[in-house]
Amino acid sequence: MNTPRYTGLIDRYRDRLPVREDTRAVSLGEGNTPLIRLQNISRDLEGHLHGKSANDLTKRIEIYVKYEGLNPTGSFKDRGMTMAVTQAVAEGSRAIICASTGNTSASAAAYAARAGITAFVLIPEGKIALGKLAQAMMHGAIVLQIRGNFDAGMQLVKEVAESAPVTIVNSINPYRIQGQKTAAFEIMDALGHPPDYHCLPVGNAGNISAYWLGYTEYYRDGVVGKRPVMCGYQATGAAPFLRGHPVENPETVATAIRIGNPQSWETAAGAQQESGGWFDEFTDEEILAAQRLLAQKEGIFCEPASAISLAGAMRDIKSGKIPGGSRIVCTLTGHGLKDPDTAIAQSTSPTVINAELESVRKAILENLEGTT
Ligand code: F0G
Repeated sequence: MNTPRYTGLIDRYRDRLPVREDTRAVSLGEGNTPLIRLQNISRDLEGHLHGKSANDLTKRIEIYVKYEGLNPTGSFKDRGMTMAVTQAVAEGSRAIICASTGNTSASAAAYAARAGITAFVLIPEGKIALGKLAQAMMHGAIVLQIRGNFDAGMQLVKEVAESAPVTIVNSINPYRIQGQKTAAFEIMDALGHPPDYHCLPVGNAGNISAYWLGYTEYYRDGVVGKRPVMCGYQATGAAPFLRGHPVENPETVATAIRIGNPQSWETAAGAQQESGGWFDEFTDEEILAAQRLLAQKEGIFCEPASAISLAGAMRDIKSGKIPGGSRIVCTLTGHGLKDPDTAIAQSTSPTVINAELESVRKAILENLEGTT
C-alpha cells in the first residue's frame, strides 16, 4: 500500500502552527529528517566509561543525531523559512530580507524563488562557506556582501526594514521559530517521548529557543510527561553566553555561529535555566575533531558548527555531567557539503598514481596493511 506523499512540515503539523486552514504552504518538502542512532561513537564512549567506573557497566549510552543537513537546502533553516515565507506571501509581501552567516541566506533564496518573490541577503564578506554562497547566488537572491560581520548585518536589516518594503526572515520573525519548533515534535514523535538531554550549537540563539518551545508545547498539552535538559554550545571565539555579554569581534572556523550579539538572548537563557541546562564552549580544534569523528566513525557529514553538539555531548558524558544511561539527542544543523574548503583543509590529500593496474594494486595493499 502507498503511504501518503510527504508534503512538508506545515501540512504535517498544521494544527500546531499559526497558519490558516486555507493558506497554501510555500514548501520544498522540508522536515521529516532522520534521527540516527550513533553506534561506533557510543560504543567507544561506553568503553571509556567502563574503564573508569564499575558503576557504569550496565549503563548504555544512547545518542541520536537529528540530521538537519538533509533538509532541502541542507540546513534546519528550511523549517523556519517555509513558515516565514508562507506568512510573508499571505500578507502580500513582494520581498524578504535577512542577514546571514550563510544558511539563512541559502534558505531564504530558495524559498523566495519558490514563492516568486525577491530575496535580499546581507552576508559578511569572505566569511561564509562556499556552498552557502553558491546557493544564494544560484537561487537568484540579491547578494549584498557587507564589510562587517553578521551582527552588523543584523542591525542594518532591522533598520532598513523600517523604511523599505521588505519582510525580515531572520529568527526575530516569530514565524521562523514556529516552524523550527517542529524539529522537537519530530523527535518526540519518533522516540515516543523527549530525550533526557538535547545538545545543540548556539549562534543567534533562535534554534535553542525554538526547540524549547516545541518541547514545552507537547509537555503542556500532556502529549509527553517531561522536557529535556537543554545544553547549548558555542565556539570559544564567539561565546557571548559564556562571557555573559555580547562579544565585539567574534571569530571561529565554524562560520555559521560566528555571532557575537545573539538576537534571542532572553529566550535562550530562559530555556537553559528552566530546563536546568548549561552553556559551554569549544575551541576550533575541538569542533573540527568532532566533525571528523562523526564523518569517519559513523559516516555522517555535518558542517563544523553542527559538530559542536556532539563535542558537547561527549565531553559532558565523559565528565559525568550527563549521567550514563541517558538518552541524548544532538542536532546536526547543517550538511558538511556546505563547507568543502574546511573539510578539504583538514583531510589528507588524495594520492596521485599512474593509471596502471600495478599502481592501483600496490596502493590497495599498502593501505590495507595492518587493517586485518
Ligand atoms: N548551526 C548552523 C549550521 C547554523 O547555520 C546556525 C545559524 C546555527 C547552528 C546556530 O543557530 O542562530 O539559531 O542559534 N546560522 C544563521 C545563519 C545565523 O545566518 O545561517 P541559531
